[in-house]
Amino acid sequence: MIIEFISKNPEMTKKTGTLFSKMLGRFEVALLSGELGAGKTTFIAGAASGLGIKENISSPSFAIFNVYTTRNKRKFIHADLYRLDSIDEIINTGIEDYFYDNKSIVFIEWGTKLMLWDYFKMDSVEIEFSYLNDTKRMIIFKSSSRRWDKKLEKFKAVLKKCRYLE
Ligand SMILES: Nc1ncnc2c1ncn2[C@@H]1O[C@H](COP(=O)(O)OP(=O)(O)O)[C@@H](O)[C@H]1O
Ligand SMILES: [Mg+2]
Repeated sequence: MIIEFISKNPEMTKKTGTLFSKMLGRFEVALLSGELGAGKTTFIAGAASGLGIKENISSPSFAIFNVYTTRNKRKFIHADLYRLDSIDEIINTGIEDYFYDNKSIVFIEWGTKLMLWDYFKMDSVEIEFSYLNDTKRMIIFKSSSRRWDKKLEKFKAVLKKCRYLE
C-alpha cells in the first residue's frame, strides 16, 4: 500500500504528522527518509504533539536519539541517523533496544539506513519526503505488511476527509 501526498506548507506537514500519530499502536517503528530540509523533523514534531508530548522537538543530530514520554506513558524515541554510516555505528548507539522492548514508538530520520541490516525485521512503515519547491513537499507512505496496509488504508480515508487528498 502506498499513499502519495503533497504538503503545501510546514503546518500541513505537521498536521499530517499529528493525524498519522492517531494510527499508531502501542509499539511502532517508522523509518523516514529524504534530503535535509525535506520536512522529516516537522512531521515528527506533529506526531509527537499528537501523542501528547509538550516539549519542542528538534533534530537530535548530536544525541542521535532523544526520548520523550507520551500522554499514555509510552516512550517516544526521535532518532536521526544522518551522521552514522555503518550498521555497526547505528547498533552501537543502543537504539536497537527500543525496537524490541514492546513499549516504544520509534521515529527514525534516515531510518532506511537500517534496511541494509539483515537482522532488521521490524514491522515498520516507511515515509519518504522530497522537496518540490520552497513550500511544497511530496510525502510518500509505504507499507510492507498486512497490518500496515490496513492502517494506511484508514489513514488515506482520514486525509481525504480533511481534504488533504483528492
Ligand atoms: N510543506 C512543507 N513541509 C515541511 N517543511 C516545510 C514545508 N515547506 C517549507 N518547509 C520548511 O522546510 C524545513 C524543513 O525542515 P525539517 O523538518 O527540519 O527537515 P528535515 O528534518 O527533513 O531535515 C523547515 O524550515 C520548514 O519550515
Ligand atoms: Mg531533521
